[in-house]
Amino acid sequence: MNAQQLIAVDLLAAAVSAAAWLGTAIAVASGRGRIALAALIAAGVATLARVGTVVALADQGWWFVQDKVTLALPLLGLAAAAAGVTAMARGLSRAVVPLFMTGYAGICGLLFLFLFGYPASPAQAMASVALVGVATAVTWWLRHPAAKRAATVAGAVSLAAGLGAATLGFLPAGPSATATPPHHTVSVADLRGPTEPAPGGTVKRYALSARQAEITLASGRKVAAWTFDGQVPGPALTATEGDLVEVRLTNVDIPDGVTLHWHGYDVRNGEDGAPGVTQDAVRPGEEFVYRFRADQVGTYWYHTHQVSDRGVRLGLYGTLIVQPRSPLSGTDLTVPVHTFGGALAIGTHDGMADNPQPPGASVRLRLINTDNTPHRFTLSGTSFRVVAADGNDLNGPGEVREVALRIAAGARYDLAFTMPSGPVALRIDDRAVGLALSPGPHPDTSAWPELDLTSYGTPTGGSDLQARPDKDFTLVLDRGLALVDGKPAYAQTVNGKAHPNIPDQVVAEGDLVAFTVVNRGLETHPWHLHGHRVLVLAKNGRLVTGSPLLLDTFDVRPGEVWRVAFRASNPGVWMNHCHNLAHADQGMALHLVYQGIAR
Ligand code: C2O
Ligand code: CU
Repeated sequence: MNAQQLIAVDLLAAAVSAAAWLGTAIAVASGRGRIALAALIAAGVATLARVGTVVALADQGWWFVQDKVTLALPLLGLAAAAAGVTAMARGLSRAVVPLFMTGYAGICGLLFLFLFGYPASPAQAMASVALVGVATAVTWWLRHPAAKRAATVAGAVSLAAGLGAATLGFLPAGPSATATPPHHTVSVADLRGPTEPAPGGTVKRYALSARQAEITLASGRKVAAWTFDGQVPGPALTATEGDLVEVRLTNVDIPDGVTLHWHGYDVRNGEDGAPGVTQDAVRPGEEFVYRFRADQVGTYWYHTHQVSDRGVRLGLYGTLIVQPRSPLSGTDLTVPVHTFGGALAIGTHDGMADNPQPPGASVRLRLINTDNTPHRFTLSGTSFRVVAADGNDLNGPGEVREVALRIAAGARYDLAFTMPSGPVALRIDDRAVGLALSPGPHPDTSAWPELDLTSYGTPTGGSDLQARPDKDFTLVLDRGLALVDGKPAYAQTVNGKAHPNIPDQVVAEGDLVAFTVVNRGLETHPWHLHGHRVLVLAKNGRLVTGSPLLLDTFDVRPGEVWRVAFRASNPGVWMNHCHNLAHADQGMALHLVYQGIAR
């Protein structure tokens, strides 16, 4: 079993064991001996199964089991032991209260998993134990009127302990560790892009105006959208390596404001378009001019970063393609996938779009996922190579066929192939949405296996990014109770905290930085760092065996552990967040901060 399956089985075992312990208690209390025995056996089996899954999960990493090993299992074990001892000494029928306590302990462990998770703090643990104590005392009080006084005392002590723990837990933590301010501090606002192209390059000027518009999909369906220049996607921006790209953004009537973030492009920090971090949002009637040098060749995209979940979903995004100095020959198609009000579309084509190519033509498809969740792309009728991921060329990409490409939210793959004579089609999520590159019937692709990029292509000699890092961080992703922008919420958390309370990752310019992303939850998190590409070192403890994999967005699925590294060579304050933008809104965002840079 992999970690994801273990997490699911563990959850099931936890729920069954809690229910079975409670069931045993209820059956014993109501004098149903047969049922009580059956429930007791079920409780024992589920509890043992849980111990087994926790041991197996521990093997995948301590993050997955810390709450279980330090709290849930000991609490359950102690309560069950108390019930066992009582039952042996005085008979099962006299063990009702400790049996209830065991049930409460089971429920408490389950609640803890959903409400707090990792890392389990002493205050949270104490509050949980107190909760079990209060519930047990109340049960005791109800069952044994003669013991009212003792039960009341036990309940009061538990309650006091619980309240004490809760106050401890919610006391504001001291100011988060920040770098010692150096003598000269550079402001993010001063870290602006160059004003000249590289020698031989030109200045590519664009003007984008953000405004509301009604757009019409190919099916005729009309959608109320937020657009750049009245179209979705926004204008396709293109440049040649070495050009200076200058984009004047004007906000006509987007009420919440808008910015431009160059996803995957390592622009200077002041051009990054992160509102509240690198600039203020551009309000209606205002404008902002972005400048950056087109030094990275490949497939990128841009989108608003202000109220980004809503804004991008409604259409505030477009593509950015940078060609090398010596242009690529052949057909070059950009394929931005987006969901408009439930309709999956490429551009505005919410069905199959015809784009016939003659046999022998060399074709490049630039697949871009602009949604919040991964999409599955299949190319039928031809073999192909994945020549780039997130704009970065892969080394020695081999020919593959009949494999599916699962592209993370925000990520891009470039495919290259020569048109054969038969029918060829690109489809999204195995549905009738995509590109028909030549007419004919298309096979069922739903059973095709997924290509794993961590073992695709050819390795190179190794990279200095594999050395011992100067800074090393761990991000454990989960859900839990936390403050999000000051309000209590059931948040998407990193190490138990949510934005803006997740400690900054503080680095110095030149540092080799590594970080590990662990997903102990049940949802996929496409992780995205601004301003830097990261080299994937390992996934689930296995080193990358294929081409070096430089990415700006990587999907961390439930139970997965990714380890990546980068060189801190682009000073600033950078967002590091989940690109399921709804999750980012719910707190899953933090900052990478260079020493000596002030917001
Ligand atoms: Cu594409 Cu911070 O985002
Ligand atoms: Cu997420």
